[in-house]
Amino acid sequence: MANNSNLGAAKAAKNDEFYTQYADIQKEVNAYLEYNPDTFRDKTVLLPCDDPEWSNFTRFFAQNFERLGLRRLISTSYAVESKKYKDYEPTLFETESPLFDVDKTRIKGKIFELTRDTNQNGRIDIDDLEWHYLEGDGDFRSPEVCKLRDEADIIVTNPPFSLFREFIDWIISAEKQFLIIGNRNGLTYKEVFPLIQDNKIWLGYGFEAGNAFFKFNGDTSGFADGVYNPETGLVKFRNCCWLTNLEHGRRHEPLRLMSMKDNLRYGRHAQIRENGYPHYVNYNAIEVPYTDAIPDDYDGNMGVPVSFLDKYCPEQFEIVGHSLQLADMGIIKKRLGKAGGGPRFYIEENGSLVRLFERLVIRKKPQQ
Ligand SMILES: C[S@@+](CC[C@H](N)C(=O)[O-])C[C@H]1O[C@@H](n2cnc3c(N)ncnc32)[C@H](O)[C@@H]1O
Repeated sequence: MANNSNLGAAKAAKNDEFYTQYADIQKEVNAYLEYNPDTFRDKTVLLPCDDPEWSNFTRFFAQNFERLGLRRLISTSYAVESKKYKDYEPTLFETESPLFDVDKTRIKGKIFELTRDTNQNGRIDIDDLEWHYLEGDGDFRSPEVCKLRDEADIIVTNPPFSLFREFIDWIISAEKQFLIIGNRNGLTYKEVFPLIQDNKIWLGYGFEAGNAFFKFNGDTSGFADGVYNPETGLVKFRNCCWLTNLEHGRRHEPLRLMSMKDNLRYGRHAQIRENGYPHYVNYNAIEVPYTDAIPDDYDGNMGVPVSFLDKYCPEQFEIVGHSLQLADMGIIKKRLGKAGGGPRFYIEENGSLVRLFERLVIRKKPQQ
């Protein structure tokens, strides 16, 4: 199932047209508000890469404008002719507006803005959104959207997976606060990983049980069984996560772990009870194949699955690096004559070398 869902995400990355559900946005934002009710207070929030007329990001932030205490909400969309998937009908909202322009509707991006009570009904909400066409197609890299980015305090969106590296760079280079959805494969990109390692960005609160469901527009015929549900119109991806530099409480909750001795005796993983924690052949660390089996009394380097990041508490552990950077492939080449497939850690099992999945290397933080 995990593989199917990951393939699904890869396919979606080529299409980019999948839309976040309201409940997921609400649950995620609530986690930041729980930590700090003023996270968004008096802030300008930009929602780029959106389709404001039917985006749940726009809907959520507009509906909650007053509760969040926003100063200004801006959301922008990308012109249909610039998209890879061009199936599109303008909404009634657009066609019935005096601003509708048949020459612009397919080639221009749009901007929606919320700052004031335009209909004077005593509150600022979704009915007060004002809009117009952008000069260009709404590409987040265009000068006009870059200018909006520079005016914003917090950027929130589910950006196109196919441009994830560029999108992260776009935010980080402007030193903005952000909350975005990303593909877990992107966590070890060289543009992203050093920021995670330095605790400048981290995983958000997260999707329910790690499963993210998105509304998908496009050709669903290539999805593996179980990825696309025609009844709900939703696709299920297991490898999506929220990425942010906004504080939330969960990242400061230490993992509850057992000692090495107890893991070896009573731990729930037979693999560990039987084989222990082998040392890598090509790096000085022990292999810990499950996050819940990290021994809490081991002071050296430990290789753990990348999914550890969901549970990473910077007060408990530091991140030393990951296998892509640290694995000594010279040792492996000497032993095997060749070593294909990129740097990874290896262990020795019954006289043979076994190549492991990607690993992060972590180390216990000294007790304060
Ligand atoms: C994954 S979808 C998410 C849409 C919306 N933010 C949501 O979650 O409901 C990404 C959107 O970015 C748009 N997009 C693709 N390339 C873009 C670009 N260069 N600049 C701005 N938007 C882009 C896609 O057309 C798509 O609508």
